[in-house]
Amino acid sequence: MNTEDTEEAQRESKTEKGSDPFFAKEIMDLKHWKLEVDGDNLAWLWFDRAESATNTFSTEALQELGRIADHLAGMPPKGLAILSAKENGFAAGADIDEFTRIASAEEAMAFTTLGNVVFDKIAALPFPTLAMVHGFCMGGGTELALACRYRIVDDGPKTRMALPEVMIGIVPGWGGAKRLPALIGAAKALDLMLTGRGVDGRRAKKMGLADDATQRRHFANAVRKFLANPPSPHKPALADAITNWPGVRSLVASMSRKKVADKARQDHYPAPYAIIDLWKDFGGDVRNVPREHTASMASLFAHPTTRNLIRLFKLQDRLKSLGKEGGAPIRHVHVIGAGAMGGDIAAWCAFKGLAVTLQDLAPERISPAIGRAHGLYKKRLKQPHLVQAAFDRLIPDVQGHGVAKADLVIEAIVENAEIKRKLFAGLEPRMKPGAILASNTSSIPLQSLCGVLARPERLVGLHFFNPVAQMMLVEIVEGPQTAPEVMQAGQAFARQIDKLPLPCKSAPGFLVNRVLSPYLMEAMLMLDEGITAETIDAAARDFGMPMGPIELADMVGLDICWAVGQELAKPGSPIPKMLQANIEAKRLGKKTGQGFYTWVKGKPRKATGTGSVDLRPLADRLVVPALNEAVACLREAIVTDADLCDAGVIFGTGFAPHRGGPISAIRERGKASWLATIAELRAKHGDRFVPDTGWDAL
Ligand code: NAI
Repeated sequence: MNTEDTEEAQRESKTEKGSDPFFAKEIMDLKHWKLEVDGDNLAWLWFDRAESATNTFSTEALQELGRIADHLAGMPPKGLAILSAKENGFAAGADIDEFTRIASAEEAMAFTTLGNVVFDKIAALPFPTLAMVHGFCMGGGTELALACRYRIVDDGPKTRMALPEVMIGIVPGWGGAKRLPALIGAAKALDLMLTGRGVDGRRAKKMGLADDATQRRHFANAVRKFLANPPSPHKPALADAITNWPGVRSLVASMSRKKVADKARQDHYPAPYAIIDLWKDFGGDVRNVPREHTASMASLFAHPTTRNLIRLFKLQDRLKSLGKEGGAPIRHVHVIGAGAMGGDIAAWCAFKGLAVTLQDLAPERISPAIGRAHGLYKKRLKQPHLVQAAFDRLIPDVQGHGVAKADLVIEAIVENAEIKRKLFAGLEPRMKPGAILASNTSSIPLQSLCGVLARPERLVGLHFFNPVAQMMLVEIVEGPQTAPEVMQAGQAFARQIDKLPLPCKSAPGFLVNRVLSPYLMEAMLMLDEGITAETIDAAARDFGMPMGPIELADMVGLDICWAVGQELAKPGSPIPKMLQANIEAKRLGKKTGQGFYTWVKGKPRKATGTGSVDLRPLADRLVVPALNEAVACLREAIVTDADLCDAGVIFGTGFAPHRGGPISAIRERGKASWLATIAELRAKHGDRFVPDTGWDAL
């Protein structure tokens, strides 16, 4: 390496850490930002939120940024680069703690206005401005980047740019809804804003959101090169630009509305509709929206959905924090059983960077899982070298050599206690000392499995959901002897593979299946009464479920619904006859092409229209068994509190997120009203509608 290279390397490594770029001089006394000007009169502004590992925009951080913009406008430097001094990313958006403390529409508007004023100041700076984005760049982070004239992103796999406000029931209110459509065209911008999905560095560049993508270690160089010779700012291609034209605008808006309406009703989820109106009628600027309009910040804040979604966002954070402490990370996982679950759990763990050995009775039982894994990696990782690396981490292992090396062994074989016990007895002596044994059983209590173990305290339930790659929740099941540090390690492992851990007590069905199963069974009893599958599903969707229970049962597999239903049924519960007939005829749902629906190309064929049926009483009848079971779970302390119950049921089943979960749904309509409904249902349908004693304590 020559001296120039060494010097360059030093500069680059300094830049990465967020310390002085070359010959820089720090100016202004700041708490959350650091402003430096180098010998070339380039300003380097580092976002480094005090006392936090993550950059978020608090009022104070925004106010400081406003002062910085004023100062720079008066200087002025030759150019400005905005970077993050944090390892994990550019900025995660508004400070959610401050945001959730907002109590009135006025406060909400004041916070929104502040962000707009400050980002407008950045946008108005009379010299080239460049955001250097690495890691996550969410909401306000992306809006700040959009306020800059240029953006360069890290092309590594961790970069994510998004405007996910819709997920918490609000709109991109700091200029994102104005600047993103102008930059990349309205169709693409609306797609991002309405789904809240993130794009990686390469996609950001491809769609024009970023001007360039490079490795983060080259950021310092990239800044100097770019600002020495700034190109003209990006303009959308004609086909994209057209979508913003006045005549085309209404067409794009109505197409987007239709797409949104297919997924969510406006009274359940007002935010996506507000985003479309905000862009179409108010130039994407929330300050232009009259207070009484449904797209105004005041209306959105007053809506219960927003409150519930924000709470859910915080609950997600709480689940994440449950996995913070867990000792040494798991490096090697050995999975036994390469079926629907074990195969996909193994694939997911390798995807998340762990060494994985996958065991089954014969190689041909493992190959379908390897095929599915390849599909997952190609879809998610795209770049061939990353696909190959993930693939290399997943090793078929019929002999079970991995058992002796693994830090964690996950059992996912057939749901049969006797066979599982036999496996455990042979397995434990071969595991390395200190390794953890986990079972993915969905219904067998750990107490009936741990008897064969010399160290039952090292057995924990890790209950994944199907499909593994899409379901975020993992129930971490505590058996009667599970050691606290093993529970903790299970929770940390869930976080390590980017899932949400939910600690549960070992009781049949744990939390999620226990709540879900009576809801599915009730739906099937309704079928037996002659109510159509389409009507039942429509009633559930009317309540806000993302998918109806009949379609869901077909998706999960009717054999599995049957097994879980049998396991959890209360004495005397009626058996759904059509379900039984389907099982006998091996019509098991989506996987056999026929269940309650006929499945074509992965989609159920449904008759259209549900006639003039009043869906609300049907929805109540479906939902009541789930609410009642959630109450029972709380009473039995299956989970420690109502928040965990709500979070678990939403993340594990998709239960109407805008209602905030079962306990929140009870509180919102009122306990007395639900109890009256239960009494009516009991009078009509019998004693399966008895309120649990836990209702008294709510
Ligand atoms: P599956 O039937 O698809 O796969 C089981 C696999 O285990 C088969 O490939 C079989 O060859 C293998 N196997 C059986 N005995 C074995 C042994 N002694 N050694 C090695 N391999 C052996 O079953 P699935 O659906 O993957 O379920 C597995 C476990 O996961 C069960 O305990 C089930 O309750 C649980 N589970 C299932 C869910 C689902 O939706 N299917 C959801 C959550 C948990």
